[in-house]
Amino acid sequence: MSVNSDSRMVLFTLVWTLQMLLSFIQCLELRYHNSVEVEKYLTEISQNYSDFTHLYSIGKSVEGRDLWVLVLSKYPKEHRIGIPEFKYVGNMHGNEVVGRVMLLQLIDYLTQGYGSDSFVTRLLTSVRVHILPSMNPDGFEASERDCYNTVGRYNKNGQDLNRNFPDAFSGNEEQGQEVEVQAVMKWLKTEMFVLSANLHGGAVVASYPYDNSNGGSELQNDASVSPDNDVFVHLAKTYSISHARMFYGNVCNDVNFPLGFTNGFYWYALAGGMQDYNYLWGWCLEITLELSCCKFPPESELRGLWEDNRAALLAYIKQVHLGVKGQVLDANGTPALNAEVKVMGRNNLTPYRTNMNGEYYRLLLPGKYTFRVSLAGHEPLTETLSIPNGTEQFSALTHNFQLRALETPSSGSQSSASPELKQYRYSCTMLVAQLILLACLLCSF
Ligand SMILES: *[C@@H]1O[C@H](CO)[C@@H](O)[C@H](O)[C@H]1NC(C)=O
Ligand SMILES: *[C@@H]1O[C@H](CO)[C@@H](O)[C@H](O)[C@H]1NC(C)=O
Ligand SMILES: [Zn+2]
Repeated sequence: MSVNSDSRMVLFTLVWTLQMLLSFIQCLELRYHNSVEVEKYLTEISQNYSDFTHLYSIGKSVEGRDLWVLVLSKYPKEHRIGIPEFKYVGNMHGNEVVGRVMLLQLIDYLTQGYGSDSFVTRLLTSVRVHILPSMNPDGFEASERDCYNTVGRYNKNGQDLNRNFPDAFSGNEEQGQEVEVQAVMKWLKTEMFVLSANLHGGAVVASYPYDNSNGGSELQNDASVSPDNDVFVHLAKTYSISHARMFYGNVCNDVNFPLGFTNGFYWYALAGGMQDYNYLWGWCLEITLELSCCKFPPESELRGLWEDNRAALLAYIKQVHLGVKGQVLDANGTPALNAEVKVMGRNNLTPYRTNMNGEYYRLLLPGKYTFRVSLAGHEPLTETLSIPNGTEQFSALTHNFQLRALETPSSGSQSSASPELKQYRYSCTMLVAQLILLACLLCSF
């Protein structure tokens, strides 16, 4: 071989290696992708990383676009007992597009990091992350690239999806919901979500429930305060202080939000919002994240926005491990469906109930809490637990509640029966059973 062809060989190898490397670390371009491109991207991701991703649609928009959700987790295809379900929802207002871009970048980041980055790997091993980059794809397609106008905010029927949910404070009406809202309501029934955030634009702040009030006891100093207010404040604050600038509180120079978070109602009241619905009817703590002053910023700003939000998006998912989780077991040791798990001192408007696996999840800050667990036909159980900060362990405290059957009314005095008496009764029963068995055996001869 001549020197010439040798060096050509080296050059070729170099270029080839570089290309391979580049294609390997290539990230999703930081630009706006339309619905067709997003669908193609998510489909490829679910094929290329099928061992830890799963793509499904929760329904279709008015114009027939699928509402695609990508799950990222060691357990992508189905729920596992003890593994909490988390979700991010973007682009519910079609012209508020930063959340949509952030969620696609997050998918890219998580798929690149799983198996190589220890934080990402631990995260996806401990939780199922569901990502719906766009809840309003029709609105996105209709948007003008404008900072402030409202073209594309609404769905194809001109409805504001964040005013379209049944509202506990104003009648709870479950009728006439838009198809996009119906899809999310159904989704909340099929997955037992524990924690969620819903991404918007037009301000920079983390806002938490309630968004509405009917002037009852929840109304305190112009805020509408839920029984889990301490947890909501922690969640909103976690996002804000993990974000590069949100905690300044005055990023958009119009309103000032101390430390970058606010009670939703205190900011402005709204009925039919998604976060209140998630909390009250999905037992899922959801907050609303406003990520940019400009609703549809120039593409050149997207890289900076991703840098600002990346750590916060990751830190927020980790909060799914606050508190306590486990199963409620009935008198036979079988996981009990529909058992109520109440935390004393927290009068939730709708009680937390166990799912078909008997599971419950309660997000709580570290501390001591008394639980009251009840189930039909069983004695109510009261137990006090010390709850540590589970986020560091990537797992909430695991605790199962074992219930005991109610004594039957006909033997009402039994609850006071001594152990000796119970033993005596047991022996009698066994004796009778043995006699019957013996009689049967004799008869058969
Ligand atoms: C998926 O893999 C194919 C084939 O290697 C590649 O061309 C494509 O860019 C990959 N897509 C994504 C989103 O990773
Ligand atoms: C849990 O611990 C982490 C790290 O020590 C801390 O940043 C976080 O605020 C703690 N969470 C709570 C709810 O106390
Ligand atoms: Zn919005």
